[in-house]
Formats: sequence, structure tokens, C-alpha cells
Amino acid sequence: MNTLILKPSEDASAIKKAAELLKSGEVVALPTETVYGLGANALSCSAVEKIFSAKGRPSDNPLIVHIAKLDEIFELVEDFPPRARALADSFWPGPLTIILKKTQKIPTQVSGGLDTVAVRMPSHPIARQLISEAGLPIAAPSANISGLPSPTAFEHVLDDMQGRVAAIVDGGSCEVGVESTVISLATEVPRVLRPGGVTLEQLREVIGEVELDASVLKPLEEGAAAASPGMKYKHYSPNADITIVSGSACEFAEFVRRNKANIDAVLCFEGEEELYAPVPCVTMGRQDDAFSQTHRLFDALRELDEIGAHRVFSRDPDKDGVGLAVCNRLYRAAGFKLIKAVPLIGLTGPTGAGKSTIAGLLEQRGFAVIDCDKEARLLTGQDGGCLTQLSRAFGEDIIKNGELDRRLLAERAFADRESTELLNKIMHPHIINSTLSKAAESLKAGVPAVIDAPLLFECGIEKHCDASIVVMAPRELRLERIIKRDGISESQAKNRQAAQHGDDYYLSRADYVISNIDEHEAGAMLKNIII
Ligand code: TXA
Ligand code: MG
Repeated sequence: MNTLILKPSEDASAIKKAAELLKSGEVVALPTETVYGLGANALSCSAVEKIFSAKGRPSDNPLIVHIAKLDEIFELVEDFPPRARALADSFWPGPLTIILKKTQKIPTQVSGGLDTVAVRMPSHPIARQLISEAGLPIAAPSANISGLPSPTAFEHVLDDMQGRVAAIVDGGSCEVGVESTVISLATEVPRVLRPGGVTLEQLREVIGEVELDASVLKPLEEGAAAASPGMKYKHYSPNADITIVSGSACEFAEFVRRNKANIDAVLCFEGEEELYAPVPCVTMGRQDDAFSQTHRLFDALRELDEIGAHRVFSRDPDKDGVGLAVCNRLYRAAGFKLIKAVPLIGLTGPTGAGKSTIAGLLEQRGFAVIDCDKEARLLTGQDGGCLTQLSRAFGEDIIKNGELDRRLLAERAFADRESTELLNKIMHPHIINSTLSKAAESLKAGVPAVIDAPLLFECGIEKHCDASIVVMAPRELRLERIIKRDGISESQAKNRQAAQHGDDYYLSRADYVISNIDEHEAGAMLKNIII
């Protein structure tokens, strides 16, 4: 298809030409104050079908109908309740879409089979003139190929839509930069399905109680119905694989330094770039100015693809005001992958697998290592406070001259499963308390921490961790290592192994597994884990 490029700033008849195309049932890409839209006559099934094929959009995802004057809404909706009027009075023309019960006039293609219709009165002068000139309600989704970021500049539309639509109207770059706020008045309590340029706070000021749909900042649960069908599709998604990293700029800089071998680019705020050098940066506005972020976000997502970045890590914007819209789009672009710049990692594995080696490597990478065995030793030292309990359980003779005979305790405690359980019951609460409080101190100081815990899963410490790493090695090798490390006999070592869970127990619970047969290879595996 030959796509006509129309420039109202140079050609006085551009809008008239675009309106003629709309009237004859064609699709025209047009600027709005939010993002560019892909417009067609909302009352014509065949015109609307052309939108879906140009975009490659699933047919159950309904479209927004755009109007230029308030009167035009009455043929589209069954009822125009006082709350709708209050919202229209306050925010139209502007970046607010209102969902109401639809009339028969709205084709099912537009409503995606729902009994409601989404209506918006844009404020962009070109959009308004074009709708007025065409004399039609205009159905228009964002003018991107389905699944790609919405276009906020003429060039973006050209990239996505040239050859797919009858015309593109050039209106420069869009002022708001993210799509409109979508509010449903078809629910009992008005509900925001998509945050945008009009904020929750502004809406609440006008109509009181307003809910935020759960899908705004969280992925839709499997099998759950989407209040807004658009929410079930992966959206705003560049080719880059984005992960959001929460934390301050300094904490993020440390994170980038630790993981730079696995990062192609970072998505950050203006003025921070130097902190992350030499990793390439794409900026998404200023940290303290959410409007600058809405304006930049989609552009930035497209830029990441232009520089060919695959593994991208992003700062986590504030969620206040229009920041909520920025987070909603960014989180969706990231497939809701969210991690912490200063994480707490749990490290475990069967005895003899070589956890300590990995803990040492993590220490070199900047982690504070909190070793549960060391904590246990401190707690069972002279002032540790556990000795009385232990001697009551395992015999007074395990204490000699006020000191614990560790070998004797180990012999008795690891003799059978029951004894091991008793030891755990006494020691675990103490160990958990002291390791977690040390970890919390470290995180508070901005230093990531790793808890080296043989019983990470059994004790429930892993619930407090952001990720778990399991270190593994073949059973025979582990046995050899235990004998050598602890100077015990083969049968004693076998007893210890027998008191532990099988490999599957660890593997099925691990976020990451490192096979530590050879230290060098294990180190290489660890380097690929982004923490
Ligand atoms: O700013 C905007 O709203 C832009 C410009 C072009 O106006 N348009 C836009 O349209 O973003 P689109 O189609 O990309 O997004 C419309 C969203 C989708 O998530 C869709 O599922 C939802 O609104 N939607 C439309 N009609 C609905 C309805 N009746 N009930 C629930 N959700 C609806
Ligand atoms: Mg869209």
C-alpha cells in the first residue's frame, strides 16, 4: 500500500485530505497529545477491521473511540452518569478515556465483544480538527505494531506503519508521551485500568473513591480475566530483555559494577550516566520529574533496540502521580522482572559440595558473607547462650571445662535423623535470628549480603532471601571432601551425608545451581548469575 505522508504544518489541505480518507473507510495514523493513534471510522466494521490488520492486533482487544465534542458521545453510550460528566468537565479534552455501557451503534469489532465502549476526547489540535472535519467518531488504538512500544514521534509511526495504512499525519512529537488514563465507570466503584497522564489523585479529587486495577503493577494471575483485555498481552515491549532494579542511584551503580560483564545497557535518569560508565546508557527523563519520564519512556525503549542492547537493566521510577503510568509501562516492557540492587542471597547445598568456595567468590564480588556455621559456633561458644540447652539434650559430658566438645556433639547429633532434628530444634531459632539481623545491618548499609546456610530451605531462611543459589557436586566427590576437610572416617562422613536430603530437594528449590567440581568452572558459572 502506498502511504500518503501529510504535513499540516506545510500543507493547508493536509487535514482535509486525511478526513476524506477517513470518510472513505481508510486508516489514517494521526497525532494525539498522548501517543500517535491509528484512526478509522468507529461506526464502520470494514474500516475498523483494517486497523486490526495494520496493527496485527488480537481481535478481542477493544479500541478507544475518539470524539471532538461532548455531544458526540450520546450516540455511543447508553447512559452518561453524573460521574462521567464530572470527569469530562474536568479532563476533556485531554488524556482520559472513560469506559461506559455502549449503544448498538458501536460495532462488536470496536468493543471487542464487550458491552462497553471506551471514549476519549483528545486535546491535540490536529486530532480534534481531523475528527471534526471527518464528522465521525474515530476508533484509534496506538499506532504501533501490536506488542511494540507506542509511537510518540512521527518517525516511530513511519517505522511501524509505512505501507500498512492509507496516510500518516505528521504532528511532531507527542506532549504527554504515554497513553491516556483508562477509567471504567461500568464497575461499581470507578476503576483505573491503565494509569496515564491524568493521575489517580486528580480523579479522586473529582469523583471520590477510585480503585486501581490489580494488573497495573503486577502480572495478571494465570487464568484470571483481564478487566481491560489489553492488559493480558505483553505490551510496550522492545526486543531488549529488561529487568528493573530497585534501589538508589549509588546502589544501582554498585549493582552495575558487580554485573557489568552481563549488562549491555542501562536505562537510567538524566545526569546519572557517569555513575555507570563504561556501560552504555539510555535515559528516560529526570528522576524527580515524572512528566519528563512519560515524555521520554517509549522513545528510550525504541532507542535500546536501535543500539542493539539485549540485556538491559533499568532504574525503578517513583510511582507517585504520573510516575504510576511510567512504572506501569516500564514494568510491562520488562515482563514484570523486578530485582533489588542490594539483594540478600541464600547459599546452600549438601555438605562437601563446596559452598565456601562460592561464598569466597561472592565476597570478592562485594557481598558480605554471613556464615551460619560460624554463627552457630559463636552461639555455642562460652558466651553464646546455647550450651545449657545443648547439654540438657545431648548429655552433660559434651561440655568440658565450660567448653563444648564439638566432635562429641557432632557424633551424637548426626548419629540419626531424630538427634539431628533435636539439634536443629535447639539451634535454628538462635541461628536464624542472628544471621538475619546481621544481614539486615549489611543491607541497610547498602552492602549486598549472602547467607551461607547448610539448612537454608529447612530453616525457612530462604523466605527472607531475594534469590537462592545451590552449590552441587557429585556424591563421591562430596564424600572425599568431607573426609579430608573434617578429618573423619568414611563411615562417619557417610552418616552425615545420610542425615541430609537428597539432591532433588536442593535442586527443586534453587533459583540458581552451581556445579562445583572444578573451582574455575564454578567461578565462571557464578559470574553469569546476575545479583
Ligand atoms: O492515549 C491513548 O489512549 C491512545 C491514543 C491513540 O488515544 N490510544 C490507545 O489505544 O492507547 P490502545 O488501543 O493502544 O489502548 C486501549 C486500551 C487497551 O488496553 C484496551 O484493552 C482498553 O484500552 N480498552 C478499550 N476498550 C475497553 C473496554 N470497553 N473495556 C476495557 N478496556 C478497554
Ligand atoms: Mg496500545
